[in-house]
Amino acid sequence: MSISIWSYPTRILFGAGSVKACGAEARALGLDRVLLVTDPGVLQAGLHQAVEASLTASGISFEIFSQLSSNPSEAEVEAGAAAYQRSGARGALALGGGAPMDVAKLIVVRSRVSNGWAELDDNKGGDKLIPRDLPPVLTIPTTAGTGSEIGRAAVLTVKSTGSKTVVFHPAMLPRVAILDPELTLSLPKAATAATGFDALTHCLEAYLAKGDHPIADSVALGGLELIAQHLQRAVANGKDIEARGAMLKAAMMGAASFQKGLGACHSLSHPLSAELGLHHGLANALCLPAVIDFNEAAVPERVRRVGALFGASPEPGACARRIRELREQVGISGGLAQAGVTRDMLPRLAQLALADGCHGGNPRPCSEDDFKALYLASL
Ligand SMILES: [Fe+2]
Repeated sequence: MSISIWSYPTRILFGAGSVKACGAEARALGLDRVLLVTDPGVLQAGLHQAVEASLTASGISFEIFSQLSSNPSEAEVEAGAAAYQRSGARGALALGGGAPMDVAKLIVVRSRVSNGWAELDDNKGGDKLIPRDLPPVLTIPTTAGTGSEIGRAAVLTVKSTGSKTVVFHPAMLPRVAILDPELTLSLPKAATAATGFDALTHCLEAYLAKGDHPIADSVALGGLELIAQHLQRAVANGKDIEARGAMLKAAMMGAASFQKGLGACHSLSHPLSAELGLHHGLANALCLPAVIDFNEAAVPERVRRVGALFGASPEPGACARRIRELREQVGISGGLAQAGVTRDMLPRLAQLALADGCHGGNPRPCSEDDFKALYLASL
């Protein structure tokens, strides 16, 4: 077992078999009882067994909360918070994709804060209501996409507004992330492609985002290079552990870089998940080429540089064409229409996209009409 340890920006363990260190890592944080937050798919795949063995070996008792969907609702988060309180846990260990990791962060927020989630919305300054002394969260991703394992934010769909709401606070940053490529070997092709496109979108939107952030830019370009070299490999052969490891690194780098900001693609994709239940990564994949075309006028050099990493020619429009081609190559065919989006939905979706905070980072301002046009171009 070979484990590398990086401390930027979270303590990160990487390597095949590194999951076996989770008990010792939790113990080092002073934990003796945790809530293991996961989902039914992870349990069915048996990925929790190594975690349970490690916790037990380190003398850490635990209960499991797994009643989660892929787009967590307020009711699911509250049920998790109640389970946390009942169990007497002093921290949360998340095992899974974005949903369990986000819910684990929201559970520890709820253990200290009683305000409603709409009030805690980061867009409305909700971070000021969250204290600094949140219980620790450890993360073990089983997909390579969200990057939530090192993120300080969590997303849930709030009942009163029906929108995807971001809750953010630096104290929500997981204390330890364990990236074990062996846990991603059984991820099916479609999920590998969709989550991989989420990572790609994070790196790309962060690199194109407004603002002067050379560290985020470098990390984003590094992540894009890993994705250009390994996404197709990971989809073609799920057992390719080198490709799986590279995609886990790229997903983590995507989240490290989007501290700089995201862009219009995430504002387009959030309403598609909240309203129609579309997988987040798939929604990004379907909207990304139109957003690249839209942004090329504002940041042509950056778009060319990204295109070059994926083997595109330097002509205008070539980067978006290449990303559309890559999408097909990893098995994501068709557009939003095939995913169930109709023209009469576009005015409402555009309104929701405009209300989403992510496009604040987009290099070109987006109006409601722009969002409608971007949805139409992605149909
Ligand atoms: Fe994302």
